Amino acid sequence: MIIPATLDKSAIIELLSLPLADCSPLFEKAAAVKREIVGDVVYLRGLIEYSNVCSKNCHYCGIRKDNANVERYTMTDEEVITAAQFAYNSGYGSIVLQAGEVSTPAHSQKITRILQLINEVANGKLGITLSLGEQSAETLAEWRNAGAHRYLLRIETSNPALYSKLHPADTHHRYIHRIDAIQLLCDSGYQVGTGVMIGLPFQTLEDLADDLLFFRNRDVDMIGMGPYIEHSDTPLYEHRSTLLPLQERFELSLKMVALLRLLMPDINIAATTAMQTIDPIGREKAIQVGANVVMPNITPVQYRKSYLLYENKACIEEAAVQCKHCLERRILSVNNKIGYGKWGDSQHFRRRDN
Ligand code: 5AD
Ligand code: SF4
Ligand code: FES
Repeated sequence: MIIPATLDKSAIIELLSLPLADCSPLFEKAAAVKREIVGDVVYLRGLIEYSNVCSKNCHYCGIRKDNANVERYTMTDEEVITAAQFAYNSGYGSIVLQAGEVSTPAHSQKITRILQLINEVANGKLGITLSLGEQSAETLAEWRNAGAHRYLLRIETSNPALYSKLHPADTHHRYIHRIDAIQLLCDSGYQVGTGVMIGLPFQTLEDLADDLLFFRNRDVDMIGMGPYIEHSDTPLYEHRSTLLPLQERFELSLKMVALLRLLMPDINIAATTAMQTIDPIGREKAIQVGANVVMPNITPVQYRKSYLLYENKACIEEAAVQCKHCLERRILSVNNKIGYGKWGDSQHFRRRDN
């Protein structure tokens, strides 16, 4: 199939329906656009899974509040600093501080203090991305002033009806609040990342095409998306018999990455751990069709088994230095360079900011 110059919704759906064997033109075009616009360079963000305490109950997530089988933890300041130092010394350029959603003043202040500590050890040279759920304008401003400059908040699905099937029906889990929260991030001066899960129960190809168009309409700077993977301790598990096979969820994710690179040539696109969880070289495959960001896990090993959003998550036993060497090899194996010591800001943000 020839890839149309402008991708409208019906063209996107048609491409998403292609068998993988027929996707070479799509993948080759996405690879060419990546090379031309952002280059064959991958930027690293050390991922610190700071705490698995969460006030929410998303139906798909293994660390949801009501899952009593999870041992809850929060890293100490020293542990966060050690991890940040490791990222800095390894030339990672930036880190992501991720945790469940907690919105108490005590929590906001704690994060502010941690941001200040990280900036001290790294002389303000380490880029800092937050992934801490929906927060108030005051809290976001406080963290921005303390040195965080990027924020990830996935929309999870752009279809409001599907969103409500994936979340409890209370006021904490409303689609409209999620939309407002993403807008607030844009208005608060952050570089904004969002994303979706792919292959969710009840999700259609039309939904996925809408997700891609949603990203473009929202004009975001970064996207992280990956296959939905079931977790037996969650309510969504009862729908597992309706799911696509894992391999097909992976293939759909690969097509989504390639299509997104064509739709938004200058944004940052992550090769996600969920892709790696299904396919042993899933991240490398994503890099070859348009992804340009990888998030090596630098959480202390003793906590990793307690941060299982889904089953069989990759890199659970490996220490940070093992992931470092492993990832470097993997990225070089697909002829990409590593953007050592660079923040690797999305070109899109710089353009939008100007
Ligand atoms: N499968 C895949 N991704 C998941 N996430 C949460 N649960 C799952 C799951 N079961 C993703 C969500 C969330 C991100 C931190 O992890 O998209 O935003
Ligand atoms: Fe909490 Fe995020 Fe999991 Fe939802 S997806 S339960 S907000 S950690
Ligand atoms: Fe973690 Fe390979 S990236 S072990």
